[in-house]
Amino acid sequence: MKYTFPENFWWGSASSALQTEGESLREGKGQTTWDHWFATQPWRFHNGVGPDDTSTFYRNWREDIALLKTLNHNSYRTSISWSRLIPDGTGEVNPQAVEFYNQVIDELIEQGITPFITLFHFDMPMVMQEKGGWENREVIDAYSRYAQICFDLFGDRVLHWFTFNEPIVPVEGGYLYDFHYPNVVDFKRAATVALHTILAHASAVKAYRAGGYAGEIGIVLNLTPSYPRSQNPADVKAAEYADLFFNRSFLDPVLRGDYPAKLVAVLNQYDQLPVCQPGDKELIQEGVIDLLGVNYYQPRRVKCRDSAINKDAPFMPEWLFDYYDMPGRKMNPYRGWEIYEPGIYDILTNLRVNYGNPRCFISENGMGVENEQRFINDGQINDQYRIDFVAGHLQWLHKGITEGSRCLGYHMWTFIDNWSWCNAYKNRYGFIQLDLATQQRTIKRSGEWFAAVSANNGFDK
Ligand code: NOJ
Repeated sequence: MKYTFPENFWWGSASSALQTEGESLREGKGQTTWDHWFATQPWRFHNGVGPDDTSTFYRNWREDIALLKTLNHNSYRTSISWSRLIPDGTGEVNPQAVEFYNQVIDELIEQGITPFITLFHFDMPMVMQEKGGWENREVIDAYSRYAQICFDLFGDRVLHWFTFNEPIVPVEGGYLYDFHYPNVVDFKRAATVALHTILAHASAVKAYRAGGYAGEIGIVLNLTPSYPRSQNPADVKAAEYADLFFNRSFLDPVLRGDYPAKLVAVLNQYDQLPVCQPGDKELIQEGVIDLLGVNYYQPRRVKCRDSAINKDAPFMPEWLFDYYDMPGRKMNPYRGWEIYEPGIYDILTNLRVNYGNPRCFISENGMGVENEQRFINDGQINDQYRIDFVAGHLQWLHKGITEGSRCLGYHMWTFIDNWSWCNAYKNRYGFIQLDLATQQRTIKRSGEWFAAVSANNGFDK
């Protein structure tokens, strides 16, 4: 069967500043929480590799953009590093950063690749974290100023902006499950961070609209469809709770302008509501977006909690559901995440049926592989598994579009193997293999395949 996608479909990939640029403490850049955490606890990072060890996009941007072109990308998402642009978070703008980002944006456009820009991709300036990070409302104002500066500097050429990438992840990682700095485990603080993130998002959207810039603004959310173990009402309810906590806590405010009443009710019941101020509700309403980026990797399998919870311990979302290791589910054998291609269709259908069919695109989808060098054949990584992964997801995406979803593109995570937070280079995700020691780049088979898909605006299967 032939799968042809709509005209002008966005084919590309995504990455972020800290994961690709390198020069993480040079060229005028200030420290992020990651630089600080690595300097103080390097053992938290796979093989002790930190954020300075990257594909060095800061130096190799021209060569890498040429590679994007070889992959027939017509669009590419990366982020602007707040701490590179404004090294102390609130003060002077770093001219070297302005020059760097101008060159990158101009070269992308020159090569026919539309730049998509994220403002905040997990990289909190350390000076802002020292003030309390997203727990402190002052940081919202500092972020709004940073956003405004980006719009003013680059908004004449960048027409697709994203306020945050996966905003739930710093909430989970930094305040619930200990995989991001500041390694707090406290639900109430997590809820405050989530609320302030939405307020920061809304203030950037408001500023963008007030500025009358030419483009559009959205957010990138990682959505994890929650599937109950059974249709038993207790399991169904558990899946609904997981959905409320991990999807709808961001999805509803950015698409409907408000939090789901059920989420507010459950937080209230457990005395976990964050403190709101007058005007918050109205500001959140102004944060409704033009374009939603959807990152999809795997679903959540959920069942009702049948083991007892220690109610003397502090509240956690898992009081309300439990994870379910569904027998027979298809797993990525090289990383351990589930592969469930119809999930991408279910997300689109949910957006179409329950959220008014917003304009959206798949902003990340991808397959991490450990020790990927084992698949080298004649000097090239023969990653048929990644081709199958992408083709499988594209088939379901195509079905969603055929049924009316307004999905405008598909971006892969990612174009070149990159540094992935605490996992560093443990899992490789690229269309292009990176040899960290020599900085040599070699296109994988999946990269060649994707280039053909993009050139043909579809594929046969
Ligand atoms: C989501 C994030 O946006 C990105 O930073 C991360 O490296 C990838 N997923 C892979 O886990």
